[in-house]
Amino acid sequence: MKKYFVIGNPIDHSLSPKLHNYWFNENNINAKYDKKKIDEKDLQSVISKVKEKKINGINVTVPFKKAVIPYLDKLSPEAEQTQSVNTIIFSNDKLVGHNTDIVGFTEAIKKLNFNIQDKKVIILGAGGVVPSIIFALKKMFVSQIVVSNRTKKKAEDLKLRFNNLKILDWGEIIDFDVIINATSLGLDKETINLDFSKSGSNKLFYDVIYNPAETNFLKEGKKFGNKTENGKLMFVYQALEAFKLWHGITPQINNEILEILNND
Ligand code: ATR
Repeated sequence: MKKYFVIGNPIDHSLSPKLHNYWFNENNINAKYDKKKIDEKDLQSVISKVKEKKINGINVTVPFKKAVIPYLDKLSPEAEQTQSVNTIIFSNDKLVGHNTDIVGFTEAIKKLNFNIQDKKVIILGAGGVVPSIIFALKKMFVSQIVVSNRTKKKAEDLKLRFNNLKILDWGEIIDFDVIINATSLGLDKETINLDFSKSGSNKLFYDVIYNPAETNFLKEGKKFGNKTENGKLMFVYQALEAFKLWHGITPQINNEILEILNND
């Protein structure tokens, strides 16, 4: 039986096992997908198990998407540019790191009834997933990307990798068409302290968080007449892309699996 893991810390919240195991069943693949909470010092030994074929593939989540890179032989161009790996495969005797968060975000935005081209986008946060979002937004030809992060230095560092980024002080807001919460605020009871009452309506409020399904950030967006979307489809599509890389099969996204993911 083939074995797959998602590694991270914390990892309890991850719905990846549910999704991949559902697809294994649907596609008659004899495999099992589990989550593994690890410390940074264990990265090398876990990844080496892929080379030894004791593990057949790994998904990587917070906070290790960058930290795994030194242990890999090769990166996809997307993983290289974002310095972020969420999927590891063993191919042609090489450990290869891919970034499927970019496709995940792109597909999720495409499914919305919202044309993002030429739009002004504010990203809140500068953590692990943000380079992937910036990469995807640039490919979708938005007109402006503004990053605002509590620790300004981390936002400034992104400018070294992506040109034409604008940095905004944390707590400030300027005119936008799309605002994306890529901070961890909303996973628990903490809320983002921004006043959207003067931001107008018909914007897109997008939250990378999908559990809870409606964060305070999305509630605020809705209150002022905006379109809102959580990160569930982004999560599903990054998983779909990883599944394709590992198994060469495009799994189905159906209502049943979306419902199963809801129940958590
Ligand atoms: P990492 O920063 O290790 O990559 P992450 O979960 O990917 O972790 O990112 C967390 C994001 O949420 C960061 O942008 C973080 O801001 P800092 O860079 O200043 O830490 C942001 N964040 C977390 N708690 C926050 C808070 N209480 N207020 C504002 N931003 C917060």
